[in-house]
Amino acid sequence: MDAMAILKIARMGHPVLGRIAEPIDDPKAPEIGQLISDMIDTLADASGAGLAAPQVHVLLRLVMFHVPQARAEEEDGDGAEGCPFTVLINPEIETLGDDTAEGLEACLSLPGLAGMVTRHRHIRYRGTNHKGEVIEREAVGFHARVVQHECDHLEGILYPMRMHDLSTLTFTSELKHTDEAEDDQP
Ligand code: NI
Repeated sequence: MDAMAILKIARMGHPVLGRIAEPIDDPKAPEIGQLISDMIDTLADASGAGLAAPQVHVLLRLVMFHVPQARAEEEDGDGAEGCPFTVLINPEIETLGDDTAEGLEACLSLPGLAGMVTRHRHIRYRGTNHKGEVIEREAVGFHARVVQHECDHLEGILYPMRMHDLSTLTFTSELKHTDEAEDDQP
């Protein structure tokens, strides 16, 4: 049995987060399997929604994510669909329609922060899993947001680079004051 491995997550400012990741030639290679296993441990330890290989200092096109049903409904309303835990190798995104949506994003490479980001509302994405099997899905809302966020990491893009209004960049620990601030308006 492989030992559990929690990898070090690069934080904003580390050059590895600004580089373009390379395609994976063989999704079934043992070293890719090991990377996936270590990234799963790392993501679980950090309690994140998603993780991209460049965040653990590996410049390969591999992302993983999940959207629990409760989180999807919290973000998109009752009946919104979540997404099972998914590993996507060499992902590609196609946008469907022109609709965009604003939503709060956070990232394990910017611990403690969150900000409002505009994303395409409806996408189709495609890639392979660790067995080399093709995964192709349509996604809307928060699910689509998470996939766009993770795939941005493969292009060296962090969510603040997508923000239109930097005044919405906040420490998540201060979000609890947002309602108070509104109540305090004269
Ligand atoms: Ni991120």
